[in-house]
Amino acid sequence: MDYTVLENTETHSYDSLKEEFSLAVLLGFSNDRKWLPSKFFYDDEGSRLFAKITDVEEYYPTKCEQEIFETNGSKIVSLIGDAKTNIIELGAGDGRKTKILLSEMFKQKKDFEYQPIDISTDAIVGLSSALEKEFPNLKHHGVVAQYIPGLNWLTQKNEGRNFILFLGSNIGNFHTPDAIVFLRTLWNSMNDGDLLMIGFDLKKEIDVLLHAYNDSQGVTSAFNLNILTRINNQLGGHFEISNFRHFGTYNPHLGSMESYLISMTDQTVRIDALEKDFHFAPFEPIHLEFSYKYLNREIKSLADETGFEIVSSFKDSKNYFVDSIWRAKKN
Ligand code: AVI
Repeated sequence: MDYTVLENTETHSYDSLKEEFSLAVLLGFSNDRKWLPSKFFYDDEGSRLFAKITDVEEYYPTKCEQEIFETNGSKIVSLIGDAKTNIIELGAGDGRKTKILLSEMFKQKKDFEYQPIDISTDAIVGLSSALEKEFPNLKHHGVVAQYIPGLNWLTQKNEGRNFILFLGSNIGNFHTPDAIVFLRTLWNSMNDGDLLMIGFDLKKEIDVLLHAYNDSQGVTSAFNLNILTRINNQLGGHFEISNFRHFGTYNPHLGSMESYLISMTDQTVRIDALEKDFHFAPFEPIHLEFSYKYLNREIKSLADETGFEIVSSFKDSKNYFVDSIWRAKKN
């Protein structure tokens, strides 16, 4: 099994993650409008619940992107050209959609290597062993790291073109100013002519969005409430989970779905690791997540503002989702 754990990732140990989490909780709960960063959804249970969300009927993004890959895999791969290509995936997870592209790369006899980056060693080890079984001839090298250090490390040592995948509308979880910084940071790590494929969830009928983020089985609700369980488990929090409810709504000014937890009673909750009590008024919200939805012209401005040109875009049959392929322009 061939993978690298970047040294500076090891300093991202359980203790430093816990420290980062506790500071984020302190900062977020000390604010007039309480909030927590959505990246803390993804402990083991949160990742399991997110995988479950992708299977619920109302949550369309994963299904739409899968359809895009199944329908357009061959066109996407033919955009890549004949130079040696490194397919780098940010946040690879189980690589479900990417495997469709890898098969197509073999079909079109491309010279390539697959380099998934994920912060979780378990995800990289699991994916590597699945790939070894499914694609015995695939050259692959996983990297356990945060996205940007992992990407810098790969692009400095790689020969040939880089084709970077950032799928699933993960970009939508960045507030727009942060998305611009993130995309420009990606651009900094890329060479002139390298390609980036990003999945964007498109603006659509608001009821479709509301159902997708308030599914009837309650999986999204469990996913959101799990962040309180994580505070209880990792920071000695004393949250009574049933005193909060999930609320998913659309903010039409931002063009974003937003998730909140709402305190259903007047309550004071101790968090031992912070040696502090936090008060929650009845119906007080905690903001947890942005999930931006885009128009084509908003996608074009993001590309323009951060140094990319759009090469091609692929939509699903309902026009719900787009995978947009961008080229880094450096001169
Ligand atoms: C991971 N991310 C793109 C998902 C989304 O749609 O924003 C996370 C999610 N939150 C609620 N449901 C799914």
